[in-house]
Amino acid sequence: MVAAQTLLPEAGFLDKEIDPSLDLFAEIEKIKKQKNAVILAHYYQEPDIQDVADYIGDSLGLAQKAAKTDADIILFAGVHFMAETAKILNPSKKVIVPDWKAGCSLADSAPPELFRQFRAKHPDHLVISYINCTAEIKAQSDIICTSSNALAVIESVPADQPILFAPDKNLGAYLNKKTGRNMLLWNGACMVHEIFSREKIIRLQHRHPEALLIAHPECEDAVLALADYIGSTTQLLQFSQSSPNPSFIVATESGILHQMQKLSPDKTFIPAPPNNLCACNDCPHMKLNTLEKVYLALLYEIPEIQMDETLRLAAKIPMDRMMEISRMAGLVG
Ligand code: 13P
Ligand code: SF4
Repeated sequence: MVAAQTLLPEAGFLDKEIDPSLDLFAEIEKIKKQKNAVILAHYYQEPDIQDVADYIGDSLGLAQKAAKTDADIILFAGVHFMAETAKILNPSKKVIVPDWKAGCSLADSAPPELFRQFRAKHPDHLVISYINCTAEIKAQSDIICTSSNALAVIESVPADQPILFAPDKNLGAYLNKKTGRNMLLWNGACMVHEIFSREKIIRLQHRHPEALLIAHPECEDAVLALADYIGSTTQLLQFSQSSPNPSFIVATESGILHQMQKLSPDKTFIPAPPNNLCACNDCPHMKLNTLEKVYLALLYEIPEIQMDETLRLAAKIPMDRMMEISRMAGLVG
């Protein structure tokens, strides 16, 4: 099967000078209208990109929006696997990204050939893959899930059916605990959600005894064990809004704090501390995207996601199963 490709801009494209007097927010709005383009952005994008987006969401919400948009162009401000997902679900649309190098450490932790060999050793296992994986891994999976619908997806499988869960071992371990299953886990992880320091979080909790710790299930078990609430990005946002608590320590990528603060201006949001001083809880892949790159991508309609049709159709089968399970369970990301 041919791997998914990206139609790349010419060398130097991203260095093109943009007139510094341009109002990029206004220009982007103008191009969106002219070209019937829509901007879908993940919560981990920088605040400026969130503010020009037509829709901001988590992986499930973004897939649901991408599947039904009637725009001609989808500018996907997130990472590569998310834009691929949009193309899998809505192939007649032109899907473009601000920076084709915006990948994902978790998706990279499952190389397709190694995964094929691992699967071959466990032929009786049903394969559930987290959406944070490449189209090649999706094509080798039986059902896809996101952190918003993983419980519903797993519970849709008979209890005696062995499951292989990939690629996130932390999310997989959390789901094993929640469901009482013993899923076989692929050894992958997200570099951002593994960066939090349990010791520093405990110290922070002592300094802010009123703050609730809210955490994404991609975090390690040692951090999740401290959490007052665990959920997908959208679920964390909703919890921060509906909880009467005045302050929160947030153990996920820092981009979500923009929406949390916007929706609850009177509450305090404290990013959970990382385990060293050089690293931070910004995803270096997500943060490759900038407003300037969004503008250039919309203007020139590159980099564009292109996908071999055989690969797309194979990847769509487990995606469709996920979409159907989410629909039946009334889950919206
Ligand atoms: P969700 O947005 O689905 O919670 O996933 C988090 C993530 O790491 C996306 O890259
Ligand atoms: Fe990948 Fe983690 Fe970045 Fe999400 S936050 S894109 S899982 S590296």
